[in-house]
Parts: sequence; structure tokens; C-alpha cells
Amino acid sequence: RLNKSRCKTWVSVFYNENKNTDKRKIKVFDTTLRDGEQTPGISLTVDQKIKIAEQLDELGVNYIEAGFPSSSEAEKSAVEKIAKLDLDASVCGLARTKKNDIDACIDSNVDLIHTFISTSDIQLKHTIKKDKEEVKEIVSEKIEYIKEHDVSCLFSAMDATRTEKSFLKNLFSLAEEAGADIINIPDTVGVMTPERMKKLVSDIRKDLDITIDVHCHNDFGLAVANTISAIEAGADQVQVTINGIGERAGNACLQETVMSLESLLNLETNIKTEKLYEISKLVERLTGIKLLPNSPIVGENAFSHESGIHAHGVISNSETFEPGIMTPEMVGHKRRLVAGKHMGKHSVKEMLKDSGLDPSEEELKEITKRIKELANKGKKITEVDLYTIAEVVMGSA
Ligand code: KIV
Ligand code: ZN
Repeated sequence: RLNKSRCKTWVSVFYNENKNTDKRKIKVFDTTLRDGEQTPGISLTVDQKIKIAEQLDELGVNYIEAGFPSSSEAEKSAVEKIAKLDLDASVCGLARTKKNDIDACIDSNVDLIHTFISTSDIQLKHTIKKDKEEVKEIVSEKIEYIKEHDVSCLFSAMDATRTEKSFLKNLFSLAEEAGADIINIPDTVGVMTPERMKKLVSDIRKDLDITIDVHCHNDFGLAVANTISAIEAGADQVQVTINGIGERAGNACLQETVMSLESLLNLETNIKTEKLYEISKLVERLTGIKLLPNSPIVGENAFSHESGIHAHGVISNSETFEPGIMTPEMVGHKRRLVAGKHMGKHSVKEMLKDSGLDPSEEELKEITKRIKELANKGKKITEVDLYTIAEVVMGSA
């Protein structure tokens, strides 16, 4: 590993402690423990959920959607326990627009109830079997019921992005009149594009004064891009999950969304970005869902360099082949030079320097040649291989 990256931990501390308060602030609503847990094959224990909730709180998310209390006794108990943890984040419970679901959230003592109902024609017909007038009535009635209990309310129009626009806008206005604190626009089956998302959110923004939240699924791999577009169009809050886990292809990934908002759009969140790598690893371990090495921000290769040209550039200035506006230190990760068939003399020298070896120019050429020969035979080169070859060539083995 490069020494330079080791001594720059202060950069992330400085970066996170000196966030410019004049920037527009975006709230982060994390649903790892609810939509994330709906990933096929995942089932977290109560203790695991608590562990993740505590770490999400340390990360600085504004909301933790802890679960769906009416779905089972175990789920209700997990939500209750998380609500009792006295976290800085507000704890949210999910409820259909049904009295029983809402009562289960109220009993769990959550700070915020996230109530939702289907609104697209296809879901009205095939899932809830209700017409639009009935939906309007239910929405007003159930939001008023939540507010009578003095709990904050987030209303989601499920499948909003496939819902007839005039009906959707009408429903959100009714939700606002009934006292909803936040309205959410879910792209439930991930069919938006950034351009369409921008148009939809700016249309809705014109009519509403309350907080607008978006919840984008990743069926076409566009969840983060659509979320970012929604923010550019005036949304205030993003629903995300650690590592992008969630139903089917998942949700917008927290680490990608936050770093794009902060580093690319120059907006501010409450996230302590240097904790992103650690929480990503925790969620990987507890859910068993592994990230690909090339995953952005926290993947093992996110700041790794093997090719000679790239490594050479990065050794003299990391911005040559990294974004610069996002460094490994900012996200709690490390820059690595990797041994392999694409490596050049400069990275061999730098890697050996880290372990106190200082080959001559001739030795360096020979070590690099032998590594490439080995790699060309299909062998994956490890650091141990590199040091062994170096010691043989330098006559110290
Ligand atoms: O994807 C979705 O529509 C949801 C709702 C519950 C908001 O997860
Ligand atoms: Zn969802």
C-alpha cells in the first residue's frame, strides 16, 4: 500500500468536520433494515438488526426504517427495540394504509410512520382491487389517523412512476392537506430514466411545500442516477440502502448516492463518509450478500491500480487516475497497488519500498520481467509472490 494514503487520514477528518453549512442539505432515509431485508434470501436476527441500526446511527443517517412491525411478532419486537435505543436518527416503521399496520407502528413507539398504498392502474386492479376514489378516501383517512396519534407521517404512492400523473398529484395534495410531513415518490419497479425522473419531480415540486422523498429501485441499474436526478429537480430526501440491497435488483446504494451528492453535486448530507467502508463490510457479513470487487466507492478494486501506466501516474499524483474529489480516505477505504501482469517497474519499486526492499535498476527490471512471465502463465500474483521473487533476484533469499 502507498505510504501517502496512510498519512492522509486527517483529510477525511477535516473533510467531515468542516462540512460547509451553507450548502443545500439532503436528508438520508436508510431502508437497509426494511427494503434491504426484503432481498431474496436475507433474514436478519433482532440482534443483527440492532447492530446495523447502531452503526447506521453512527454513520449519521437521518432516518432508519427499522422494519414492518405488523408483518410478524419478531419484526415488531426488532422495531420496538430499535426505537428504544435512543438514537440520534429518527426511527421509522412501515405500514400499509390499514389500521392494524398503523397501530403496530404506534405500539412500537416509532418516530415516523411510513404508510403506503398502490396507485398505478395495474396495481389498483390486480393487487388492492380498489378504484381511485376509494384510494383517495383511504389516504386522507389514514394519514389523519396517524396524525391524531401525534406521530410524524411519510406517505408513499406505491408505483408512483407508473401512476397517472394527475391522479398522483391530486393524491399528494390530499396527503399534504391531511397532515403528511413527507411525501415519497417510489420508482417501485425501477422504470425511470434520469431525464424522466427530473421531469416528474419538478412537476410535483411545483405543487407541494412539504419534504419530497424518492425511493428508486435498480431494475435497469439506474437507481442512483435517478435518485440524483430527483435531487437536482428539487427533491429533499433520498431513500437508500447500504450496498444497494433490496427487492429484486435492489435499491439506490447509500454509499454511491451520498458520495455523488457530496462530491459531484457539492451538496451536503449528515453522513460521516469515512465510516462508509466499515458499514458496507458489516452489512456484507451479516446479510451474506457480497459486493463485486469493482463496486464503486467501497469495492475492493475501487482504489486499486495494477496497470503500469495508472500505477506510475498515481504514485506521483493520485488524481491522475482517480477522481480526486473523492479519495479513499474520505470513505474509509485504502489505495492499493496490485501485483499482476499489467504492472510496471514503478509500482514494483513502490510496493517493495513499503517492505524495506530497495532493488537496483537492473534488479528491478529482472523482478518485473519474472512477475510478468509468471502472470502470463495464468498465475494470480500475490504480494508474497512479489516479495519472494524480489528476494531471489536480490540474492537475499
Ligand atoms: O418499492 C416500493 O414502492 C416500496 C414502498 C413500500 C415505498 O418499497
Ligand atoms: Zn422498495
